[in-house]
Amino acid sequence: MMRNNTLFVLFLGACGLFLFACKGKVETPAAPATMLTNTEQHRPQFHFSPAAHWMNDPNGMVFYEGEYHLFYQYYPDSSVWGPMHWGHAVSTDLAHWEHLPIALYPDSLGFIFSGSAVIDWNNTTGFGKDGKPPMVAMFTLHNMPKEKAGQKDCETQGIAYSNDRGRTWTKFSGNPVISNPEKDRDFRDPKVIWVENSKQWVVTLAVGDHTEFWGSPDLKKWEHLSDFGKEYGVHAGVWECPDLFPIKVEGTGEQRWVLFVNINPGGPNGGSATQYFIGNFDGKTFTLDPDVAPAVAKGHALWLDEGKDNYASVSWSDVPKSDGRRLFIGWMSNWEYANKVPTTVWRNAATLPRSLTLNKTEAGYRLFALPVKELEALRGKSYEIPKTEISGLLDLSKNLGFSPAQSEMTLEFDLTNAAGTNLGVELSNAKGETYRIGYDAVKNQFYSDRTKAGDHAFSPEKFATGLHTAPRVSKDKTLRLHLFFDVASVELFADNGATVMTELYFPSEDFNQVKLVAEGGKAPLTKGTAYQIQRIWK
Ligand code: FRU
Repeated sequence: MMRNNTLFVLFLGACGLFLFACKGKVETPAAPATMLTNTEQHRPQFHFSPAAHWMNDPNGMVFYEGEYHLFYQYYPDSSVWGPMHWGHAVSTDLAHWEHLPIALYPDSLGFIFSGSAVIDWNNTTGFGKDGKPPMVAMFTLHNMPKEKAGQKDCETQGIAYSNDRGRTWTKFSGNPVISNPEKDRDFRDPKVIWVENSKQWVVTLAVGDHTEFWGSPDLKKWEHLSDFGKEYGVHAGVWECPDLFPIKVEGTGEQRWVLFVNINPGGPNGGSATQYFIGNFDGKTFTLDPDVAPAVAKGHALWLDEGKDNYASVSWSDVPKSDGRRLFIGWMSNWEYANKVPTTVWRNAATLPRSLTLNKTEAGYRLFALPVKELEALRGKSYEIPKTEISGLLDLSKNLGFSPAQSEMTLEFDLTNAAGTNLGVELSNAKGETYRIGYDAVKNQFYSDRTKAGDHAFSPEKFATGLHTAPRVSKDKTLRLHLFFDVASVELFADNGATVMTELYFPSEDFNQVKLVAEGGKAPLTKGTAYQIQRIWK
């Protein structure tokens, strides 16, 4: 991969650093657009990342007229967090993304924090034009002067609309549409849905240690409906970026409601992560399903992704019924080090788009997540891995000529006699750096080991202090690992999506060797395919 960073680093050095008070983060000047190549060191090649500068949460995902919209928390003047805008990109296939101009800029009411977007099919807002429904975004207005003055009501909610497929936006003159009546310090990240049974808009807000549901006939006048969460789930950090949606239970005619609540910190391996609740929503109140109540009793959680690097997961609005999927995407980072990861031109990326199912398992209702099938279009050359009893290390690069830097692997192992075995995939490079991800049959857990995978000096105390783990919930004797490696990240979908782990790593040279590992015992590989994945950026 080309490396065009030297010039840029010189440019940065010449400009120097300056301090920015917001969130106590250090700001660095950004690269002029002419210096961008999309192949800078650590740049993901088949994930969405901004062409330049800082991104955090995905926002306002909505499908309209053949396009999947992805807005995102964006700071266009630097590659660290700062005054938030909504960046914008679209995709027609969930695999390739087109960058579009910034959608929403900060204004006198505040920075444009996270939120959602919907198509107002019935023109309840009156913002429609020429018989076409408007696209309406709802977001948090974060007022920095108020925050600095110690005023607690620094977050309110606003709306904006677009009549041209999200290309240009007009903010509603009556903003804020929800002020902050209780003066809650954290009162943000509105996720709007249309609820058919009560025939009204419902917005879910993250309010410190709980979620609030508010209802509206027209997205402008809102009334507080109910609260959920103080008594449930993990509370080691602030609740952020909620989502609420119905989903059918696989293989039945039943439906449940899912509530996502992102939390920072407090994740299963430290820092930011997405917990979820399953229950019912009657148009006003969310009630937990008794089946999951023990699993989400206060201090416990069900996690959507147990790796360290999937945060702010939220789903797409308005995916056609004929498609029927619940699609979502997350931010592929963690607030513990997101501002410090070793990239300069841009910072941070989104996860791969994923599709959710709700399954009745032996443990109770659980969400499974899988990469969207559209990503198969990115597969390049494929390699069948011969069935084999692995003992020690099996070098796929040498045997197949396969390079893992941008790749996908589907592997099946027979665990019948695997007691005591540590199974996995190891990436390495000529610098002797290694990254391992796999399953430890002794502890019955998945693990990610990035302790020897390259640079972690940017966050000695948080990034790579030990293994990151996730318990295996499936009891299937066949272990299925579906893996995507993209330069500086891995996404593991294990046991058909029952356990998911997203992890970053920063090798000083791209990993170009890959080995299958079975240590401490033996495990037959019964099926295996590896694919090179094509890059999506020109
Ligand atoms: C989550 C978050 C949101 C907020 C946004 C600000 O990562 O803290 O709660 O709206 O980021 O950029």
